[in-house]
Amino acid sequence: ASPVSRAGPPMGFNHYNHFGNTINEGIVREIVDAMVRNGMREAGYVYVNIDDSWQGERDANGNIRTNSQFPSGIAALADYVHKRGMKLGIYTTPTAKTCAGRTGSEGHEKQDVQAFANWGVDYIKLDWCGADYSPDGAAAIARKWKEAIAASGRPMVLSINAGGTLHVPPWASEIVNLWRTGDDICSSWYNQTRDPDPASSCRGKQPAGIRDYLFNNTAGNAPFVGPGHWADPDMLEVGNKGLSFEEAKTHFSMWAMWSAPLLAGNDPRQMTGSDDASRILLNTEVIAVDQDPLSVMATKVRDDGGLQIWRKPLAGGGQAVALVNTRDEATTMTLSWRDLGWTSVSAVRDLWRHADLAPGGTGYTGSVPAHGTVMLRVAGS
Ligand code: GLA
Repeated sequence: ASPVSRAGPPMGFNHYNHFGNTINEGIVREIVDAMVRNGMREAGYVYVNIDDSWQGERDANGNIRTNSQFPSGIAALADYVHKRGMKLGIYTTPTAKTCAGRTGSEGHEKQDVQAFANWGVDYIKLDWCGADYSPDGAAAIARKWKEAIAASGRPMVLSINAGGTLHVPPWASEIVNLWRTGDDICSSWYNQTRDPDPASSCRGKQPAGIRDYLFNNTAGNAPFVGPGHWADPDMLEVGNKGLSFEEAKTHFSMWAMWSAPLLAGNDPRQMTGSDDASRILLNTEVIAVDQDPLSVMATKVRDDGGLQIWRKPLAGGGQAVALVNTRDEATTMTLSWRDLGWTSVSAVRDLWRHADLAPGGTGYTGSVPAHGTVMLRVAGS
């Protein structure tokens, strides 16, 4: 297999989905060690992103400080991460208080960005939580942060969460690297109104289940996605409880199809290399689709009563295809090569079975498990 091109959206880890506000620097260091050991770093997961809840109070000069969960400070953590060939991300908001009620950057934007640069930060997640969501107001905030990063002298990825409305992608794609396309993800197939599990993390919040992503109108983002600027459907839930193996495969497949950032949101310390989370997160053939240098966001070819076919053009003329069964029972699905604009094809690879299929005939037919996905890489003839 050829090495995975890393020309695509950021890959790494973010603590929020699994650890929420209880994260601390000791756990982060253990996670870094785990990512080195379990193959994640090797597979391309190089960003180690600290989400909300690292922030303490400002000092007399307005300098932001870490809280007691990060007693050694961010620079020490960045150093730890860099020594292992990885990168460090951090979180803040344009408001005075972050979403978790910690210290935000309002009135200290340039000072904070300069501090992040001095600490060796490589990635800024700029959440919104009460900041201006209007088109002009939100774009102005994003522009201010982009300029502050440029002035800091250190290149940093800029990822924003200015809401999921479709006024965002046209301006965000010109200013920032990543923009969120909707509300927080939850580790469930269904959202809270349909989730049959009373213990699900989706209860009492307004987040999206994996199924929601397949029916939401994500198409409005597609024209604005390309190298260096990507739509962000939120961080991964692969490896967290709430998703079956097939559902987690669908989740990961579609993030790759959409050229989305792959930010693991599980506990990498629990990955052995051969458990379900490893089999999904370390599938280098699916990762290669995500990291394809064209960075096209897949579009839906058709949806026959919840049987969906998505396609994504790849560098070199091939296409990735996802056959997604959103129904509650296994169903036979058929892809016609004509769906891809071809009458015949020269090569077909099943990216979950890791097998070449016979390219003959007029298409592909196979059974797809309930909530599952068959993912193919196809070369035209
Ligand atoms: C918001 C964001 C999440 C996470 C939390 C942290 O909900 O959408 O991704 O960063 O804030 O408080």
